Amino acid sequence: MKSQNVRSSFLNYFHKKGLPIIESSSLIPHGDPTLLFTSAGMVQFKPNFLGLKKNLKNATTSQKCLRTTDIDNVGFTKRHLTFFEMLGNFSFGDYFKKEAIAWAWDYLTNELKMDKSKLYVSIYKGGIAPRDEEAYEAWSKIIDKSRIYEFDEADNFWTMGPTGPCGPCSEIYYDFGEDKGCPDCAKNGIACNCGRYVEIWNLVFTQFNRLEDGTLEKLPQKNIDTGMGLERLCMVMQNVDNPFDTDLFTPIIDQAKKILAITGKNPAEVSALRIVADHVRASSFLLSEGVLPSNEGRGYILRRLIRRAARYGKLHGRTQPFLHMLVPSVLEIYKDIYPQLLTGANHIISALKAEETAFFKTLNDGEQRLQEIIKNNPAELSGEEAFNLYETYGFPLELTKEILAEKNIKLNEKGFFEAQKTAKENSRAYADEFEKEKVLVMQQLEGSLPATEFTGYETLTQQAEILALLTKDYKITDKLDKEGFVITDKTSFYAQSGGQVGDIGAVEVQGEVTARVSDTQKPIEKIYLHKVNIIKGELRKGQKITLAVDQVARFKAAANHSAVHVLNAALRKILGDEVHQAGSFVSPEKLRFDYTISTPPTPAQLLSVWGVANSIIEQNLKVETQVRPLKDAKELGATVLLGETYADPARFVLMAKDGFKDPLNRASLELCGGTHVKSTGEIMNIRILRESAVSAGVRRIEAVAGLSAIEHLKHVANTSMLLSKMLNTSVDDLAKKVESMLNLEQELKKEVAELKRRLLSGADKSAQCDLTLKDGTQLTAFNAENTEIKELRTLADNMADKNKGKVILISADRDGKKSFVVKSFKGGPDANKTAKAVAAAINGRGGGKPDFAQGGGEACPWEEFIKKIKEI
Ligand code: ALA
Repeated sequence: MKSQNVRSSFLNYFHKKGLPIIESSSLIPHGDPTLLFTSAGMVQFKPNFLGLKKNLKNATTSQKCLRTTDIDNVGFTKRHLTFFEMLGNFSFGDYFKKEAIAWAWDYLTNELKMDKSKLYVSIYKGGIAPRDEEAYEAWSKIIDKSRIYEFDEADNFWTMGPTGPCGPCSEIYYDFGEDKGCPDCAKNGIACNCGRYVEIWNLVFTQFNRLEDGTLEKLPQKNIDTGMGLERLCMVMQNVDNPFDTDLFTPIIDQAKKILAITGKNPAEVSALRIVADHVRASSFLLSEGVLPSNEGRGYILRRLIRRAARYGKLHGRTQPFLHMLVPSVLEIYKDIYPQLLTGANHIISALKAEETAFFKTLNDGEQRLQEIIKNNPAELSGEEAFNLYETYGFPLELTKEILAEKNIKLNEKGFFEAQKTAKENSRAYADEFEKEKVLVMQQLEGSLPATEFTGYETLTQQAEILALLTKDYKITDKLDKEGFVITDKTSFYAQSGGQVGDIGAVEVQGEVTARVSDTQKPIEKIYLHKVNIIKGELRKGQKITLAVDQVARFKAAANHSAVHVLNAALRKILGDEVHQAGSFVSPEKLRFDYTISTPPTPAQLLSVWGVANSIIEQNLKVETQVRPLKDAKELGATVLLGETYADPARFVLMAKDGFKDPLNRASLELCGGTHVKSTGEIMNIRILRESAVSAGVRRIEAVAGLSAIEHLKHVANTSMLLSKMLNTSVDDLAKKVESMLNLEQELKKEVAELKRRLLSGADKSAQCDLTLKDGTQLTAFNAENTEIKELRTLADNMADKNKGKVILISADRDGKKSFVVKSFKGGPDANKTAKAVAAAINGRGGGKPDFAQGGGEACPWEEFIKKIKEI
């Protein structure tokens, strides 16, 4: 059975049971800081499990997932993958164990017709919670009791985190056959981890809420969360013992074999092919969701995946980028299910290629550095040096080892790992503690507080009650008299999201400002944190306060945010639908807009973009927002962000003459939660400050709009006025004046260069003169005209090279003075004495060392100067 059919058979099976098929959410769990990536099917349903959202009773999905804790194992086991799809069925207080178990069995054995004799199951044997009798009952009605194993918490109790919804689970195992097993299999059964028995499906019965002290409280709503790896299910259905031999991988691996010109017959090649295929799949999906390679967070994981894959290509002889050539194979497998991959194809390919190119260059630099080190110490490479290569050049240990082995040089491998450990400990200690603290407290608040009600679209001031207070290092407190965070029942403060920074403003108590709010964040979607600095008295839990947003800052941010929509529309109009927003940043001061495009726009195109943008402003179109069903986005053709998942219903921001009365006659329609102006005229003007490349395929516009644009214009006006004063001309004539100054500068530069050249080549004999002083010293004198004094020494060195055995005298006239240097040679006359004598001849002073001296005096023409010296 093909993977496409496996996926659809699962969804259709549960759909027939009455469960709605919900689309996979993004790999990026928006608004959930506890997770870097979506790692299970249940992630998008967290609010449903907690009972905070009641829109669904149950659901079924095939969810894109990414797990990154075991990246280094991928390629070396039959199990580990980074990107995978999880098939799941979920109940939010609807059906429970009996149905979940019966359906799972029915699906595997009747729908997919799996051989029952190959299936085993496990249940929770009890420990922190009682034994799962209910699951045992349900299973014993279905299969022989000898096939039911019982395990403890380590295997059969699933938790979302240290606190929160959790429960026992029941797993289904598939037996891949005796020939895939080991001698211990008979004794261990499904607990054997040699690879013969593979867990294919996990049924989690989310029936408890774990409190901070570890006690388990029964949840009023009992949930089901199941997860089955599509790749593993395909292994069974395609009768292969590892995911890389399923049709979800083979097209990529076949293509990689061709490109790398390897057969995949030996273990090293097999690993390389698996690494390349897994990582290129994961990278393509991440890029399609707008993640870009970088040195932190999600971008860093992406960079690691691309580099690890590229490096295994290099180990097998590849010296040029190649991963991007595998993207078509990835598209072929997924294009029908994830059309987003197709839309972003150009961008995926160019971004991959750019990152690979940079990495291959780094590898070459590292290789050179390694060769240098080896030259200096051909016996052994120290662990620190090997680690340094790895840290600075991303130069992998395997490559270091390989190069050293070729040359019979030893490597202190233990030293490498020691150096790596120290570096890790140093960098992690503080950050980890801090992040852990923050995540724990947010999880606790998520469970105990209601969602903050946001009123900031309608009003800027809001009466509110303080529900919780946190110190600046995230400890819950009842009173706050310094820096910290305030959580209230309601707020008018916009929390950072969708690229727009959080609001700033003040906390007032009885009409007096008690604290300044310097930022607003929502580390988890439902709870707003106001970052405060208390300036008077204290804030207490339960206190009634007034939250007042800084109006000017909000107004400025709104103009910049609306300008982002206007720019997006203008770019798409001029450059075509290939343009996708790849990121944005909006603050009161400025805006930044990143977008994908395969070829950079020409200056003329940019000018047109600017023209279109400002004409949208001039038309003073209505800016209206409406919360509507998400499906309207498709119908109305709204611009949506790559990889973004939107709430349903979603907030639509429209710029149109008649607003939502005629939404098709519009300049822009985007799904967005940001704050905006009321009509495009309030944007006033957009000033593009810079247009540049971020990476291959992604460009950036930096601009200002609204009051910030006016401030920028003022600044530009002031500067030009200042310049016109300095240059003594009118503002209108500034450009002409500067142009003529630049021309003059060019001419002068040319003249100086020519003079130097003539002097050095001796072309102008009149500028050079051999003479003998009265004391018999022989000199070769050069006229360096108005050369800068600090250059005379270099000139003298040059001339001495060309006139061996001669004393060199070089003079120059600047600022009404004559300066000179004298350079002698080994065993030659005393330069110090000569300099003193020459200086005396022009009423000045001089001196120095026997080989080099300098001096100066009154200016005089060259001929006169020579005459005066001759008379010394
Ligand atoms: N959420 C469960 C898991 O990830 C199904 O195993």
